[in-house]
Amino acid sequence: MENADYEALERRIGRDHLSERLLIQAGGTAKLLHQGEGVFQIERYVPIDALVTIGLRCSGLGGLVRRNFLGVGVVTQEWSLPHLPPAFDGFRLLQLTDLHLDLCTDLTPVIAELVRSTPHDAAVVTGDYRNKTDGDYGPCMREMAKITGELSPERWGILGNHDFIEMVPSLEHAGLPILLNEVAAIRRGTDELWIAGIDDPHFYKTHDLAKVRAAIPDAACAILLAHSPEVYPEAEPFGFDLQLSGHTHGGQLCLPGGRAVIVPCKVPKPFIRGRWSHGRLQGYTSPGTGSCAVPARLFCPPEITLHVLRK
Ligand SMILES: [Fe+2]
Repeated sequence: MENADYEALERRIGRDHLSERLLIQAGGTAKLLHQGEGVFQIERYVPIDALVTIGLRCSGLGGLVRRNFLGVGVVTQEWSLPHLPPAFDGFRLLQLTDLHLDLCTDLTPVIAELVRSTPHDAAVVTGDYRNKTDGDYGPCMREMAKITGELSPERWGILGNHDFIEMVPSLEHAGLPILLNEVAAIRRGTDELWIAGIDDPHFYKTHDLAKVRAAIPDAACAILLAHSPEVYPEAEPFGFDLQLSGHTHGGQLCLPGGRAVIVPCKVPKPFIRGRWSHGRLQGYTSPGTGSCAVPARLFCPPEITLHVLRK
């Protein structure tokens, strides 16, 4: 990345935010410690992907888990939002998350076709575009460009714990504007719906909820995009109407009944997958559209989520 790009990023997000991000990335800690806190820190153990792959093959589940990985579905969730302006009643917000697109490029056309065939009014991608937490992100960006063209023109993304800040210009070049503790407004006549996107609150912890909330009018309806659900206690007092997250993959390889064995962050069970609420804040943790480490899913179907907003 050219120096000029770092300068542009610094002008955009401020020196403190940029230096904090770059310091953690440069330390090489992202590769080994990106899962941060948690009992099971799966990717801290480098050969875990190989071990899991061998285990699945030996158990005869190899074909099934791969079919599950490619069997992405569209799940509709309807939300009642008290501050939603009348013009947005019935608004359809599509959420994709945890794409990890360079893990297996067979997934890209599946996602592109699903997005194309799912009418929506706006779209958000809640982080984790590549599989690894460092290294070349070029292949991932090429896959992303095949998907962004299918998304609504009103679309935004945020960064996850797998994403370096250097990826932002490439993601935006691929057609996905990224919110780095920034906000965007969707307007229908005089009515507004605000989207607040924070930087990764899990590993980098460079999120700034106060900054995004201050950029939104007090009485406005605001949807928070946060890669990991674990920020919910911190977010609740800020009065967001809805929080959309991913990161957990719902466990990805689960026990029968969808019980997660490995969860990459410390959250109570209801926050691992699906709808949840905390005080006045309601939210949704997507089980993820893609998969990480191994192209496999068990008792935890991947999804694209269509959030339908109601007054
Ligand atoms: Fe992820």
